[in-house]
Amino acid sequence: MLEKIVALCKRRGFIFPGSEIYGGLAGTWDYGPLGVQLKKNIKDIWWKDTVQLRDDIVGLDAAILMNPKIWEASGHIEAFVDPLIECKICHERFRADKKQEVKEHEETKHGSKGDWTQPRKFHGLVKAYLGVVEGQEQLLYLRPEITQGVHVNFKNVVDSTRIKIPFGIAQFGKAFRNEITPGNFTFRSREFEQMEVQYFVKPDEQESLRIFESWKKERMDWYVDLGLSEERLRFKDHAPDERAHYAKAATDIEYHFPWGWDEVMGIHHRADWDLSRHEKYSGQNMKYKDPVTGEEYTPWDIETSAGVDRSLLFLLVDAYREEGDRVYLKLHPALSPYKAAVFPLLSNKPELVKLAKRIYDDLRPQFMTAWDDRGNIGKRYYSQDELGTPFCVTVDFDTLLDKKVTIRDRDTMKQERIAIKELVNYFTDKLNV
Ligand code: GAP
Repeated sequence: MLEKIVALCKRRGFIFPGSEIYGGLAGTWDYGPLGVQLKKNIKDIWWKDTVQLRDDIVGLDAAILMNPKIWEASGHIEAFVDPLIECKICHERFRADKKQEVKEHEETKHGSKGDWTQPRKFHGLVKAYLGVVEGQEQLLYLRPEITQGVHVNFKNVVDSTRIKIPFGIAQFGKAFRNEITPGNFTFRSREFEQMEVQYFVKPDEQESLRIFESWKKERMDWYVDLGLSEERLRFKDHAPDERAHYAKAATDIEYHFPWGWDEVMGIHHRADWDLSRHEKYSGQNMKYKDPVTGEEYTPWDIETSAGVDRSLLFLLVDAYREEGDRVYLKLHPALSPYKAAVFPLLSNKPELVKLAKRIYDDLRPQFMTAWDDRGNIGKRYYSQDELGTPFCVTVDFDTLLDKKVTIRDRDTMKQERIAIKELVNYFTDKLNV
């Protein structure tokens, strides 16, 4: 199943291996014309639901390059290390806590025999050097999470917007990790994108846990509303010894991937870990002053952190369908890269081409629309099915007389006649999440 999706992504321009013509670079991926649009649609829907439609969340886009003291304060320099073991036979390295991967390696490579070194620590931060004078460059770290950009700007956001607690700051952007074993296509990459909300609340045990629970539900509902199979989604609470160094409570949303259940989103109760540490390390006051009561305190943070790439991958896995020799992506129309494709029934009939082009030009300002006049109609349908285009619009000879087009539905393959002037309303109705 995963192999089929990887092949479709390459064939149809969703995702290509990074630096491919130079032999690749493990753990990096490039999004092609279809993939970049799908990714944009995921982020646009998320931003609309998370920022545009809410009074209590504002946006931010912080720099990727940050003062390295931030990573001391956040605890990553000290704690972002994994215990690694090395196979003494072939020298491949694995995370010591990934028992299943270790077992699979022994089974597939060494006839179930294992000979391993003792665990050693391996740093997950990607280093970068900034500066023009040779030998005097400043050591930086590419951010391993986008989160700290929010925390260091906490005061800026409060002062510039006057937003009151409880409130959230939303952000998406790239993060980088020196993953030891990148794999499962884009699932574990070294460069990836996250979309997060840091939601600041009063430091109150009961109330913060209530808000933590409500974010769990909200985020799960978001995926379900996008049409994902509910039975392939679940929560997995972290035991205290499984939590990241900053988390007071933590839950993952997991999806049942072709290789089993795995994480797509982390929901963390970070309490005052980040703001208190930044106060200590920067010497700046990071407290919040309630504008009504004058009360001053360090807020607690409830975080939801989703991978954009992982979300895209599980949306593709969930949408992939095979019916005989027909392959289609049953994506929610709001996610589909193209919302509609317009065809003239025959490409050698100028009157059909002219009218089809006019319809195409009228739809394009509102929706991503594809044009196809190659081959026969059946081939064009199959081609759009693989891209997940929900509607195909065909202009035929009847259209010249009745000003109606044939719309073919990707999922049911049913066809109906719709007046040209009704097309925009027809699509607008179907595209709402
Ligand atoms: N700020 C909290 C944080 O970064 P995390 O659980 O380490 O928490 C959050 O990461 C999400 O980022 C994950 O649920 C996953 O979707 C995505 N993610 C993390 N590491 C990734 C990787 N190596 N490749 C792709 N996505 C990754």
